[in-house]
This record gives sequence, structure tokens and C-alpha cells, in this order.
Amino acid sequence: MGTTKKKSKDRRSRSQRKKGWRTASSSDRHELYELSVQNTEAEVEFIDKVWTQLRGRLASSIREDFCGTAAASAEWVLARDDNTAIGFDLDQEVLDWGIRRNSERLDEEQLQRLQVHNADVRAVQAERVQTILAMNFSYFLFKTREDLRQYFEHAREGLLDDGIFILDAYGGSESYEEMEEEKDLDGFTYVWDQASYDPITGDVVNHIHFRFPDETEMTKAFTYEWRLWSLPEIRELLEEAGFTNVTVWWEGNEEDSEEGNGVFEPAEHGEACPGWIVYITAEKSSA
Ligand SMILES: C[S@@+](CC[C@H](N)C(=O)[O-])C[C@H]1O[C@@H](n2cnc3c(N)ncnc32)[C@H](O)[C@@H]1O
Repeated sequence: MGTTKKKSKDRRSRSQRKKGWRTASSSDRHELYELSVQNTEAEVEFIDKVWTQLRGRLASSIREDFCGTAAASAEWVLARDDNTAIGFDLDQEVLDWGIRRNSERLDEEQLQRLQVHNADVRAVQAERVQTILAMNFSYFLFKTREDLRQYFEHAREGLLDDGIFILDAYGGSESYEEMEEEKDLDGFTYVWDQASYDPITGDVVNHIHFRFPDETEMTKAFTYEWRLWSLPEIRELLEEAGFTNVTVWWEGNEEDSEEGNGVFEPAEHGEACPGWIVYITAEKSSA
């Protein structure tokens, strides 16, 4: 979401871009979010890679915290016939949108293996699972060490003994800048707006806007008020919450370029690049 990798501008003529394209009033913010922010196929591939590398087998049960439309859960149940997913989010509007969408993309049997519930991730009571996901930096909304540690402790409780917690994080010098980044996508432009950063508290306010070829705009389609946590802080808090083998997975570069190649590997050290996204894995116990 907060990547700084720039894409080239749409080079089609204005009339070409206008034809049959989206507008602010005809667009749905959740659909645009899924199209611009999420890559659930890559998330599922990453879960499989982690389980293969750390456990020598694949997982079948996941819990998706902060699930929103539960797109990752849907991708998970599609991936294999014995996969199950349970998602939690506090916002009934996004859950309802996801339930409608998932009933289109999944068949009856697949829907039986996907549950979503309206609940605070800090109070979830559910059957233990092999993997819990906290994606797209959602846990950055916990702004104190105590609140974040409590969430991590609760997530650890929700895992089976050999379970693995998978999170992501972003950072880099540009993450401290107040700036906008645009990405031209199919019929609309995604805008990541880092509206404010407070160096004393570490608080950031980020918005997502969507712009359209007819010059209409969906302003502040999503707003996030977060603390910009650093990797050492996140690692320490995961360990304080009882996790072991806390590992940062750093993204490799495309050949002869600074662009990320989408391949994440365990790393002890990173590079001081302007923008990075990592995955973090934390094991309930060293199984
Ligand atoms: C950044 S979105 C993440 C959506 C999706 N999981 C993804 O990866 O893109 C954060 C979501 O967290 C939800 N949320 C915020 N606080 C929460 C809480 N305490 N418990 C459960 N969900 C929460 C919001 O309603 C929102 O849908």
C-alpha cells in the first residue's frame, strides 16, 4: 500500500481513456480497494512458502484478522479443497460487501469453508488455527506498546501449538514524508496520500483517493490513523508477547534495478531504500 515504486503515466489519448471508463459516481470503493491494494494470490503463495520452509508441509486453516472484504480468506478456500478460513472485522458495512462478493466468487461448498464475523480482533474467541494473518499494516492502528503487545498476545492464543502468525509492515525514508503517490490502473488512478507524519509521536494519517479519466475523484475513500512502527519495535513486541523465531522476510530486487521482485526471503539485515514492504513471521513455539 505504501510502496514508493513509481509506475509510468497512462499514455493513451484522453478520448481513449474516457471511453467506457470508470467515474467516481459509478465506482465502488471496496472493489477499487481490492483491485489496487490487495494481491491475495501472492498472499496465499506466501503462506504456502512459509509453511513449506518452516514446517515442511502446507497449512489448511487460517484466520484473517482485520479481514475487510475477506478477499484473502476467499482466495485461501479457493486454493485447496481442505482449506478453511475465518475472518474478523469490526465494520459491518465492509463485511456485508464481502459476503455479497464472496457469494459470487465461491460456490456453495467453498462458502461452507469460509466464515466471517463482526468482532474486535483483541476479543476474538474462535477455534485455534494454523496461521493468523494481519495484512496491509492494519495492526498499526494500535498506538501504544501495551495495546500492540496485547493484540499480539491474543493472536498467539488463537494459534495451534505449531502455528505461525504472518504480518506485513512498511517503512523507508519516504514513509516519513508528507507526499502523494499515484499509480495508474485499469480505468482509474490509485492515490496513496501520506497526509501527515508527527516525528514526536510517530503518528501518521494516510488516505487512499481514487481519480478517474473524466477528472472526477473519490476523495478519502479510506483513511488510516496509524503509528508508524519500526521493525525493531515490532520484533521486540512479538517476542514480549511470547512468540519465537520472529523473522523478517525482505524483498529481493529485479535484476539491474531497484524495483522489488515480489520474492521475499528471511533476512537479518535490510537496505536503507526509500520505500520497502516486508512480511514478518512469528511462531507460537519452536515446533
Ligand atoms: C487496512 S484495512 C485491511 C483490509 C484487508 N485485510 C487487507 O489486507 O487489505 C483494516 C480493516 O481493519 C478493520 N478494523 C479496525 N480495527 C479493528 C479491530 N479492532 N478489530 C477488527 N477489525 C478492525 C477495519 O474495519 C478495516 O476493514
